[in-house]
Amino acid sequence: MDIFVENLVQIWDDGGDGIVALDGITHHFASAKLTCLLGPSGCGKSTLTQIVGGIEQATSGTIRIIDPANPATPARPGERSVMMWQNLNLFPWRNVIDNVAFGLEMAGVPRAQRYTHARDMIASVGLKHFEEKRCSQLSGGMRQRVALARALVMDQPILLMDEPFAALDAQTKIVMQEELTRIFERMRKTILFVTHAIDEAILLGDEVVVMTARPGRIKEVIKIDLPRPRSQELINTPEFGDLYDRILHLIREEVLNAMQQQNEAAAQ
Ligand SMILES: Nc1ncnc2c1ncn2[C@@H]1O[C@H](COP(=O)(O)OP(=O)(O)OP(=O)(O)O)[C@@H](O)[C@H]1O
Ligand SMILES: [Mg+2]
Repeated sequence: MDIFVENLVQIWDDGGDGIVALDGITHHFASAKLTCLLGPSGCGKSTLTQIVGGIEQATSGTIRIIDPANPATPARPGERSVMMWQNLNLFPWRNVIDNVAFGLEMAGVPRAQRYTHARDMIASVGLKHFEEKRCSQLSGGMRQRVALARALVMDQPILLMDEPFAALDAQTKIVMQEELTRIFERMRKTILFVTHAIDEAILLGDEVVVMTARPGRIKEVIKIDLPRPRSQELINTPEFGDLYDRILHLIREEVLNAMQQQNEAAAQ
């Protein structure tokens, strides 16, 4: 699915003049590509993701979601996507399979059918034999896998991921990044992946969209032409280092701007 975002503006109501969170975002999130959104805190990454996912309505601008195989019938935001948040929203008292199958259950899919599908997804995220465990009995990394399986089981072509790995410890994060890379390379969905981590963005992305401090605009789009399949070893290559330096330079400026904004707001 291609996602064409055109001149998107979002002004949140704050009881005063409003907060301009997005100020004219135009971008083509290409079908079957993984795009990372990177930018300082408060620059509108979550806002953009939620609008693309149909959870929020933009103040102005357009979003066109188009299946290249069927361009005459665009989809509504949210219709062909599934979201994964940092806050996982798993049901701790339910077991793994009933968490993974939850969306299918809500959609009225019969039990046998949803369990078959859920079992496949649980296996594909490396949790085979954990189907009957309650989520409260799992480690943070395992819960993250359950959340990923729960998103994948919906079979939607667009995956919107808002800092899904931010709360994980360093080692678990590496494993999950490799897991996602593997799944992406196999399933080829259109993925929007929000992150604060430059190395994560380069490792995962086909491109990195760097946003400015609020009001969020696109500062630069960096193509990541590193070959796939990718693994953590890439981090030690000179190509990775060059991309890292380039993005660090872009982002440092924006983080300083964001900090200055925060200081000015606190002084008022
Ligand atoms: N529902 C809302 N109502 C009012 N203001 C909001 C709402 N959601 C976000 N904002 C404001 O819009 C701006 C952008 O917020 P957003 O959460 O999109 O940023 P972000 O880039 O995701 O930040 P972070 O990296 O900290 O998650 C912020 O100033 C935030 O306070
Ligand atoms: Mg956010």
